[in-house]
Amino acid sequence: MYNFLDFTKKTVVVAGASSGIGRQIAITLSRLDGRVVLIARREEQLKETIAMMEGNNHLYYPADLNNVDEIDALIKKVVVDVGSIDGLAYCAGISRPRPLRVVSPEALENMMKINFFSFYEMVRSATKKGNYNKGMRIVGLSSTASPMGGKGQSAYSASKAAMDATVHVLAQELADKDICINTIRAGMTDTDMYKGFLKARGEEGKEYLLTKQILGIANVQDIANAAVYLLSPKARFITGANIAVDGGYTCH
Ligand SMILES: NC(=O)c1ccc[n+]([C@@H]2O[C@H](COP(=O)([O-])OP(=O)(O)OC[C@H]3O[C@@H](n4cnc5c(N)ncnc54)[C@H](OP(=O)(O)O)[C@@H]3O)[C@@H](O)[C@H]2O)c1
Repeated sequence: MYNFLDFTKKTVVVAGASSGIGRQIAITLSRLDGRVVLIARREEQLKETIAMMEGNNHLYYPADLNNVDEIDALIKKVVVDVGSIDGLAYCAGISRPRPLRVVSPEALENMMKINFFSFYEMVRSATKKGNYNKGMRIVGLSSTASPMGGKGQSAYSASKAAMDATVHVLAQELADKDICINTIRAGMTDTDMYKGFLKARGEEGKEYLLTKQILGIANVQDIANAAVYLLSPKARFITGANIAVDGGYTCH
């Protein structure tokens, strides 16, 4: 049978593969015969992800991506171990809803660091000569909070908007290397992050959300399927885009 999304002989780095959307992207890629390099801090959870995957050629690297200046060395090590890479999915991130008065400069910096600076640095490193294969695809996990953040999301929204804006420009800079780069603006998805939202906003928050996100709460497959398509050779004509996978949140 024709496999529309075949990742045979492709190596994809998934940052934030220890849970949620990143975990599901890793699992789906493995089912499509891809080799996956998993990165996050929690080693046990990375091992759990690997146990859920098909194939036995995947590798994991426990790393704190808040250490932006260690990312280049990490990618170099990955390339030495597995060869040059074909894809990068950046799913590492935090949300931490807080009102303006308590978002200290330090809190703002922490948000920007993991959600944007490390994404940018990972892209910078992965696209260096020798680190990537022709046709490489990059996907960053952005959010509906980029164009339409709600109360308490000022720092989170800014970090996601930074991701979205930068891919418009990087698409132009990377096109000559045959590299495509996009973000997915995900709607609310049932992960640990959603549990945090429910804790902070309760059933009332959920009810309000569902008046906007008209297809309901996403599951991780809904987002991973779109990400995997964008990582595949089939997505060769999509670059510099912020793709809404948000159950209709931004359509009205
Ligand atoms: N869930 C949603 O509703 C939703 C909606 C829109 C966008 N998104 C975005 O989708 C992405 C994935 O979120 P999720 O919902 O799947 O949340 P999640 O289950 O909490 O996953 C977050 C991932 O980021 C990793 N991470 C966080 N800080 C890190 C650090 N300092 N170094 C390395 N890895 C780090 C975590 O791994 P460790 O803790 O093991 O390090 C984990 O693997 C995020 O960027 C989020 O903003 C989520």
